[in-house]
Parts: sequence; structure tokens; C-alpha cells
Amino acid sequence: MKKVLMAAKAANNVIGKDNSLPWHLPADLEFFLGTVEGQFLIAGRKFFESVQGREVFHEGVEGIVMSRQKDYQAPHIQVAQSIEESFYLAEKSGVPKVYILGGGEIYKQTIALADQLIITEIDAEFEGDTFFPDIDKSHWQEVSRITHQKDALNPYDYSFAVFKPAASSEKLP
Ligand SMILES: NC(=O)c1ccc[n+]([C@@H]2O[C@H](COP(=O)([O-])OP(=O)(O)OC[C@H]3O[C@@H](n4cnc5c(N)ncnc54)[C@H](OP(=O)(O)O)[C@@H]3O)[C@@H](O)[C@H]2O)c1
Repeated sequence: MKKVLMAAKAANNVIGKDNSLPWHLPADLEFFLGTVEGQFLIAGRKFFESVQGREVFHEGVEGIVMSRQKDYQAPHIQVAQSIEESFYLAEKSGVPKVYILGGGEIYKQTIALADQLIITEIDAEFEGDTFFPDIDKSHWQEVSRITHQKDALNPYDYSFAVFKPAASSEKLP
């Protein structure tokens, strides 16, 4: 099962503030929703609650919310109490690929386990309280990048970048 980690981060690695996104960038939201629609999603409890019922976690989405609370329940979606359990449940459901959507705590614990990173890099710095972990360039190789200039709707330059493990650090089968 392939594990794709997807995030949008600022130039100073900020990804969140007050349990929300610190920027408004409609082109990224469109890219994000288009990429994850119909996919199996994994999210931390805080991120899940911040977007529950809206866009990404609409009813019918298949996925997992991670919480250490023994009695945590989420409508229409499975709950896992550890990273291992979330991958086990995803494998059990037979999907070939999962998208790990954050937030910060979940990225930190899963970046070393991912097979691919899809990162929106926003060319601006923001104040925030949640950060993306460093992308270790000795492990991750950039395989594609599409750069966009700011426009009337999107107030920052931004890139959609994809990273894969460098050949020398690919996991053995
Ligand atoms: N820019 C982006 O791409 C992006 C994407 C997603 C989120 N965000 C932002 O990130 C922020 C939220 O991130 P966050 O770090 O505060 O929270 P988070 O990662 O969304 O959720 C943290 C919660 O997940 C659960 N958890 C964490 N590790 C676990 C484990 N190993 N096993 C079981 N449960 C585990 C715990 O829930 P319990 O407390 O219930 O035990 C923990 O409190 C928000 O500001 C959001 O807007 C940004």
C-alpha cells in the first residue's frame, strides 16, 4: 500500500495557526480537493475536527481519524489509536494507496514512512503554531514542480512539488 503525504507549507514551514490555515489560496484548495477526492484519507483528530463535514471530509469519504482517546467516535469514519493501527485498517480495507493529510503531529510521525510527498510550497512567510517537519534532501528527491505566479485570486506565488525517496534510500521490498 502506497503512502502519499500531502501538505501545503509556507516558506518558513508554517502549516497552521489556531487550528486553521493561515492563508487563503483558492488554487491550492482546488488542487488539494481534486487530488484527494475519492481517495482513502488519514488525518489527525484536530485537523479532522477543523474540517469535518466540509469539503474534504464530506459524508461518504473513506478514511481514518487518529485519536488516542479510547472512546473517540467520528461519524461515518473509522478511528485508529496509533499510526500502526491506521495503516493496518487501511490495508484491511484493500486500498492500494492512502493520503496522509496531517496536521503537524501526524506529518511528524509519518514523513519517514511515506512513499511520496505532494507539497504545495507557498512563497511567503506566515505566523503560525504548527509546522511541517524538515524535508531531508538526502532522503527525498524532487521529481516534479509546477510553479505559479500570484494572480487576482491567489495572493502568493506557489509551487506544487512532488518528492520521492532518492533511489539510494528506497525501502527494500
Ligand atoms: N497546511 C496544511 O497542509 C495542513 C494540513 C492539515 C492540517 N493543517 C493545520 O495543522 C493544524 C493541526 O495540526 P496539529 O498538529 O495541531 O493536530 P493534528 O495532527 O491534526 O491532530 C493531533 C491529534 O491527533 C491524534 N494523534 C496524534 N498522534 C497520534 C497517534 N500516534 N496515535 C493516535 N492518535 C494520534 C491526537 O488526538 P487526541 O488528542 O484525540 O488523542 C492528537 O491530539 C491546524 O492548524 C490545521 O489547519 C495544515
